[in-house]
Amino acid sequence: MLAARTSVMGRNLKLLAVTGSTQDEARALAEQGAPEGTLVIAEEQTKGKGRMGRSWYSPPGNGLWMSLLLRPDLPLGSAPQLTLLTAVAVCRAIRSVAAVDAGIKWPNDILIGGRKTCGILLESTGEDERIRYCIAGIGIDVNMAAEELPENLRSIMTSLRIESGQEVDRSKLAGAIMNEMEQLYGIYMAEGFGPVAALWEALSVSLNKAVTAHTPGGVLKGTAVSLDSSGALIVRLSDGQMTKIISGDVTVDPR
Ligand code: BTN
Repeated sequence: MLAARTSVMGRNLKLLAVTGSTQDEARALAEQGAPEGTLVIAEEQTKGKGRMGRSWYSPPGNGLWMSLLLRPDLPLGSAPQLTLLTAVAVCRAIRSVAAVDAGIKWPNDILIGGRKTCGILLESTGEDERIRYCIAGIGIDVNMAAEELPENLRSIMTSLRIESGQEVDRSKLAGAIMNEMEQLYGIYMAEGFGPVAALWEALSVSLNKAVTAHTPGGVLKGTAVSLDSSGALIVRLSDGQMTKIISGDVTVDPR
């Protein structure tokens, strides 16, 4: 059961004990004509996918591994905005359900105290430059104890349980994410990216910080200044020039 008060998001729900990746399950449902808001949740993923071709560790028991199908009638170029929207929804839900000081690292990692607790992977499929559908994949380390996290990643990863000091109800968390998604997506479709960008900026841990950006074009250093209207990160380089980061990883430099 999903603790959500929504009319679309999460209403069509597929729960799986184990699967390769909920992204692939959701994609198969999308191709069969599943409605917007279809949600796939798996207890365990054997081939969990991360951003930039990485794998995503998804053991059974204490995580929340899920993929949400969106069908916005928008240009394909809007997909990065939907990535940021998803990060805002998840961050707000985590803050309210687990009562932790979570923030967003550009574009869409959710961090607590500088450590990652959630990753988001948005995959979009288009036709004639329009979105056919998007699959927002959300992976949250919810109730893992420190020793359940991969040993080589313990210094940069955390879980909601470690940070809040108590177990977090995964169904309540999934429901809260659906509530936030429905509300924010409604605002975005009616009013555009502006209100979502403002919420993202308020939750950001990257803005006004010295950052290093690892982009497909190379490594850049500067200060993260703001988001542009497409969702790209604007960085001021040391010579004062402004540049846009469209894809890649951005880390906040230690002070
Ligand atoms: C990242 O690299 O930070 C993104 C990780 C996204 C992981 C989630 S878990 C649910 C969904 N299914 C997947 O295979 N990946 C996403």
